[in-house]
Amino acid sequence: MIAIASDHGGIELKEAVKRCLDGRGIAFHDFGVFNDDSVDYPDFGALVAGTVSRGEMTQGILICGTGIGMSIVANKFPGVRAALVHDEFTARMAKEHNDANIIVLGGRVLSPEMGCRLVGIWFDAVFEEGRHQKRLDKIALIEKELGQG
Ligand code: RB5
Repeated sequence: MIAIASDHGGIELKEAVKRCLDGRGIAFHDFGVFNDDSVDYPDFGALVAGTVSRGEMTQGILICGTGIGMSIVANKFPGVRAALVHDEFTARMAKEHNDANIIVLGGRVLSPEMGCRLVGIWFDAVFEEGRHQKRLDKIALIEKELGQG
């Protein structure tokens, strides 16, 4: 199950992405926001990143105006690998090389069509493992050494 959330800067794209997920039969849970009142992105980023970090949700989608704030928040959570992507290449690499379990999008950066396209590419891509797994292991070790893992 995919967890999805945005702030007010990402709600329009979130609604578009949800329609695309529905169209593909991909199950998701929407953690908000549910209107375009101004909110603080850390509150909603933490909801999605927390569920992924605790293993309650397998993957997440976060959207704010630029995607920057949401990615900063999400990457504070142990085990979360959140990738802010802007194009087809970074969306594919986010999964193939980084096994990103959260994709982050900029609602004020991407068109609805492009946002949906990038989510689809990330969702369908497969982690390549091998040398990339070794690098993810190093990230996990850093988290452990910092007392976060
Ligand atoms: C909200 O205005 C905006 O700052 C937020 O959506 C995001 O872009 C932060 O990184």
